[in-house]
Amino acid sequence: MKHFLKETDFTRAEAAEVFALARRYKRERGRHEKPLAGQTWAMIFAKSSTRTRVSFDVGIHELGGHPLFLGMNDIQLGRGETIGDTAQVLSRFVHGIVIRTFKQSDLDGLAAHGRVPVVNALTDFLHPCQIYTDAFTAAERWAGPTGDLMASLEGRKVAFLGDTCFNMANSWILGANLFGMTVALGGPPGFEPSPEIRGLAAKTGGRFHYTADPFEAVAGADIVYTDVWASMGQEGETEARARRMMPYQVTKKLFAAAKPDALFMHCLPAHAGEEVAQEVLDHPRCVIFDEAENRLHVQKAILAKLVPARV
Ligand code: CP
Ligand code: NVA
Repeated sequence: MKHFLKETDFTRAEAAEVFALARRYKRERGRHEKPLAGQTWAMIFAKSSTRTRVSFDVGIHELGGHPLFLGMNDIQLGRGETIGDTAQVLSRFVHGIVIRTFKQSDLDGLAAHGRVPVVNALTDFLHPCQIYTDAFTAAERWAGPTGDLMASLEGRKVAFLGDTCFNMANSWILGANLFGMTVALGGPPGFEPSPEIRGLAAKTGGRFHYTADPFEAVAGADIVYTDVWASMGQEGETEARARRMMPYQVTKKLFAAAKPDALFMHCLPAHAGEEVAQEVLDHPRCVIFDEAENRLHVQKAILAKLVPARV
């Protein structure tokens, strides 16, 4: 049983196939095959979502499947039923589970106790659908309509600014190593990448550079990336985090310190005036809405790769 719980659940070769399939699904939207025909996929969301929820709902539908949205107030998981029992019961009904929740260990539990593929739609630890999409979004610009998407990422540098010890930074560490990129993390002391992510990254190369100097992080970068300073579940720390992370705001000056053709990326939602200046969001090399759109195409490709080929 194949799952997509973290970036490295696909090999580099499989990730390249995901990118190629996403490009074809994007080109052939409304005309391609429907590998989820006759299937129902549960979508468990314990946190808010615009992009992930809508793109999975639309994507499952476009692949011929039925998306079944389950908020925490809808199912007994929200009242204390165990992950193990939930996995066993849902496996009797549905063909796959997409889940957004807090603990990565809950995903591991779903995958271990269930009998259907599980897809990570964001945890506190990782957001792999987003990072695959971000890499694809850059690659489709660099490779053009027919070039090798994965090869176009080789040796490219991404600079991640701000909260360097949460899901998006962690996902860039795993993703960059898998895609042959380098990653520099610029964030305040005390927010260094955790031993847990270092250990996981070691399996695919383990390379990353952490610095407290934002200009050092962006030097030579092909992508400048940031995320909210207070993630879902950290709302009580908003002001304290803003004080620590203000030096890492992506301003026009900081963006200009990257390569002259660097892209600005953000998983969204963005907070203008906090982690990024409005003038960077308005910049012609800001590709945030391409990233948002590509969630649909890339996630469809991920789902298709998890479904066993029919004979
Ligand atoms: N980027 C992202 O995952 O957005 P949502 O929280 O809106 O799903
Ligand atoms: N780090 C953010 C990402 C949102 C897509 C959060 O977890 O809230």
